Amino acid sequence: MVLGNLTPAATQHDRPAFDVFQGFALCAVLSSLETTGALDVLVRDGGWDGLAADGEEPLAAELLRYLTERGMVCHRDGRYELTPLAEAVRADIGYLVWLCGGYGVPLRSIGEFLTGALSYGGDIGRDGRGVAVGSALVGARDLVPPARELLDGVGIDHVVDLGCGNARFLLSVCRAADAGGLGLDVNADACAEARREIDAAGAGDRIAVRCADAGALDGIPELARTDLVIAFFLLHEILADGRPALVGYLRNLAGRLPDGAHLLVAEVSPDPARPAGGHLFNPEFTLVHAMMRQRLMDESGWRETFADGGFELVRAVHPRMPGSLLMLARKGA
Ligand SMILES: C[S@@+](CC[C@H](N)C(=O)[O-])C[C@H]1O[C@@H](n2cnc3c(N)ncnc32)[C@H](O)[C@@H]1O
Repeated sequence: MVLGNLTPAATQHDRPAFDVFQGFALCAVLSSLETTGALDVLVRDGGWDGLAADGEEPLAAELLRYLTERGMVCHRDGRYELTPLAEAVRADIGYLVWLCGGYGVPLRSIGEFLTGALSYGGDIGRDGRGVAVGSALVGARDLVPPARELLDGVGIDHVVDLGCGNARFLLSVCRAADAGGLGLDVNADACAEARREIDAAGAGDRIAVRCADAGALDGIPELARTDLVIAFFLLHEILADGRPALVGYLRNLAGRLPDGAHLLVAEVSPDPARPAGGHLFNPEFTLVHAMMRQRLMDESGWRETFADGGFELVRAVHPRMPGSLLMLARKGA
């Protein structure tokens, strides 16, 4: 394993279970330290003196010892700092937050889902906040720059983001285009994050958040004056009900939008070999979605589905996010 090869404590060994063991623990620890802001504090203060709750000082010391042993921090001039390895891991921390923070709990029960002892969604579900925050961290680095390029030259007055998560991308598009917007998410925790982000940006007067099912287009009258719909990692949720359901949804959406409106979609291809780099991420991404009874489609599948649904695929690019597809479609004539 790459991590096992990089950490200073690693030795060549013939017990690969411990690579998995270490990866699990580091994924859980780093993802939690990121989302609580503890990593930011560590970088800023060189320690957690002001952060640890009363009585938790021994835990702070133990965490720093653990992170040192696993090559994530080093102690220099009286301060703890991230090692180059930790900086490299942190650059992709969104993937860890998405996996561990968003899907860590249900993944631990995947055997019970298999045997029917428990059901996904009924007994155990994902953590909406972890999914929203992790997705936004992934997107900021790996999706936003190519998405902004794709939107270059597209006239935007009003944006609807279906499955907006914490709405950071919606905010950045609205800001760049000086446009108004609506973010829709079915998960109450994601909506709370989105409202917090929008208020913090002082954009509450032009961007609204609605906690609702994006499947119910009747509930979005704003579509009639919307020139850009964003659907990042949302349409495969509709595809879970079958391709005809997705085609029907797209037809319904196209029928409600003004002529010339655009649809910007991000998805992940199920094929680990295409686009390049997919093997880093696709097997886990595809498995997590299979756990939720969702399946993924490759680029040619999307092209055909858009066409059947009343949209023409204008451009598709493969962003830095391993295996991902970013597609700009336009309402067909
Ligand atoms: C993977 S996250 C992506 C979040 C955001 N679009 C981004 O790229 O950062 C998918 C989001 O879609 C939301 N979602 C899933 N099904 C939905 C539905 N039927 N209606 C509205 N939101 C939905 C989830 O709650 C989640 O926040």
